[in-house]
Amino acid sequence: VPSTARYDGFADWYEQWSRDWPSLIAAQDGLLGPLAGRRVLDVACGQGRLSRYLAGRGAVVVGLDLSEAMLDKARRAGRGEVRYVRGDVTRPDDWWDGEPFDGCACELAFIDIDDLYGALAGVAATLRPGAWFVASILHPCFPGNETGLSSWPPDEGYEAEGWWTSPGHDPDGARIRVGGNHWKISTYLIGLADAGLQLERLVEPSATVPTFLLWRCRRG
Ligand SMILES: C[S@@+](CC[C@H](N)C(=O)[O-])C[C@H]1O[C@@H](n2cnc3c(N)ncnc32)[C@H](O)[C@@H]1O
Repeated sequence: VPSTARYDGFADWYEQWSRDWPSLIAAQDGLLGPLAGRRVLDVACGQGRLSRYLAGRGAVVVGLDLSEAMLDKARRAGRGEVRYVRGDVTRPDDWWDGEPFDGCACELAFIDIDDLYGALAGVAATLRPGAWFVASILHPCFPGNETGLSSWPPDEGYEAEGWWTSPGHDPDGARIRVGGNHWKISTYLIGLADAGLQLERLVEPSATVPTFLLWRCRRG
């Protein structure tokens, strides 16, 4: 399934909705690799929250997103400290200048990326050997809660992988607007391994039911 810039039509809404979210990645001590002076890619950067955080810690940041409307929000919210690039993470030949990154971060975006294996291969292709790759995702084993947040289609189940949307979903949330992609945890782990991204750490922030999952990998 080709990725389309679904967020182009919802950039104003998403910027407001996510404005006060703390970064899950930044909240985890020691999950990110070295930043000062390092070239770091923020994949699916959206409105640039994490990009600005990384740049504020001295990284030389490229923020990549498929949606020009989201990148416009990012550029307006910053002070030119991040280079924002429009592109599809699965197609690095279209946007990457060929200079390898020392690290890559991706905050809460795999649910919006249609080609999981292509995205992981794209990330790996742009990293130097030994570089780190950190991501936060909605936990693939999360069945949803009263606000309608869920990894898989609510009327189906954990086995239902791929893109889904649900017209009866939380009217205040993202999935009723842009849909979502669900992948089993085994699919994520196989995808990372196939891309040559070696798992170093998995984090499940404390919750009664699993809600978020973070990983840190190293490019072999
Ligand atoms: C939920 S937003 C996350 C934005 C940001 N990382 C944050 O923490 O708020 C998901 C983003 O993924 C982007 N996206 C989806 N598919 C993509 C792709 N193939 N390549 C690059 N960005 C993509 C969307 O345009 C959207 O801005």
